[in-house]
Amino acid sequence: MNISFIQRTLISLILLLMAVVVTAGNQTDKPEMVVYKSPTCGCCGNWIKHVDAAGFKTSVQNLPNLDAIKQKYGIDRKLQSCHTAIIDGYFVEGHVPADVIQRLLRERPDGAVGLTAPGMPIGSPGMEMGARKDPYDVLLVMNNGDTRVYQHIE
Ligand code: CU
Ligand code: CU
Repeated sequence: MNISFIQRTLISLILLLMAVVVTAGNQTDKPEMVVYKSPTCGCCGNWIKHVDAAGFKTSVQNLPNLDAIKQKYGIDRKLQSCHTAIIDGYFVEGHVPADVIQRLLRERPDGAVGLTAPGMPIGSPGMEMGARKDPYDVLLVMNNGDTRVYQHIE
């Protein structure tokens, strides 16, 4: 066994490993979710833990001011919450449960541009406060600005 044989073996092993990594990466075909939040937002961090636990791949962008993001995606003041997440071209505003996001990505309703849970409903993912759970609606936002209740959460 000479050096070049060892080197060739090592290079083959490294290439094989890289192929395995690339293949594994492609198998998780879930699109990445980018979460825009203020650096000091605690409930945002808790919501990110919730969607991470549900299998979403998140990357966090801390911004001192989110107005430009909300404006860019046409998220009306009355529809706004703390953070804005972008996944697969849709916006997800506020404390929307992960399973409702999964439903949106599955159903892809015609003309839909995003989901929002306006305000900060107590008991929503990331807004846990003891046993208190306020009912709230997750709204589907359409490209003409209309909204409709997508999922009522009791
Ligand atoms: Cu929040
Ligand atoms: Cu938030």
